[in-house]
Amino acid sequence: MTKITIAIDGYSSTGKSTIAKQLAKALEYVYVDTGAMYRAVTLYAMRRGFVDGSKNDISLLSGSLSEIKLRFEYNEVLGYSEMYLNDENVEKDIRTLEVSKNVSRVAELQEVREKLVHMQQEMGKSKGIVMDGRDIGTVVFPDAELKVFMTASADKRAYRRYKELLDKGEKVTYEDVLKNVESRDYIDSHREFSPLRQAEDAIPFDNSDMGLEEQFERMYNFALRIINKD
Ligand code: DC
Repeated sequence: MTKITIAIDGYSSTGKSTIAKQLAKALEYVYVDTGAMYRAVTLYAMRRGFVDGSKNDISLLSGSLSEIKLRFEYNEVLGYSEMYLNDENVEKDIRTLEVSKNVSRVAELQEVREKLVHMQQEMGKSKGIVMDGRDIGTVVFPDAELKVFMTASADKRAYRRYKELLDKGEKVTYEDVLKNVESRDYIDSHREFSPLRQAEDAIPFDNSDMGLEEQFERMYNFALRIINKD
């Protein structure tokens, strides 16, 4: 069967990764969460103290990029891939609100984007991949056969994320999470390099009032239509 490239972009906490993971499993494709890669670089920058203060500190990160090794490793028990930063499993550490608060500033850096985009293009060279992020359909794989752009209202997204963080035991307030979602939306869509925007040929997908099952069914059908046509 023909293998295609599936690019799922959209705002933060729209549930991209949940659907992308299910889709990859159903199609027996590789799934890549590019947000995890930006988060891992951010964790590295936080540990080195590069994000604490002025803009100067953050530019120091660009000089240290060659020291950052990233890889995904499939966890059979969990049924998904986990992120490794310099051979340390950082899957949990990269999902905290602290990392979310710093990640947009790191993802703005041109050198960071160049490094990660190159890695992502390598991962998708032989197709059969579902990749989610912000610039997959516009920059990483502009020729992807299927592009979906996910949106949902900011309060619905913040509420989902708030519940997720509470479930993980983080002490957060809904207001704080909403503020973070809104500020990431702003920075992600106004940055100079690869801002978040919908590719012209992407299918807009608002899931504010859609359950997981319906989302999956729709996406799976989008994919099958393309795969069966080829
Ligand atoms: O998908 P996420 O919320 O885990 O992504 C974390 C941050 O990484 C997000 O605020 C913006 C950035 N990001 C990006 O700039 N480009 C991508 N392809 C993926 C994520």
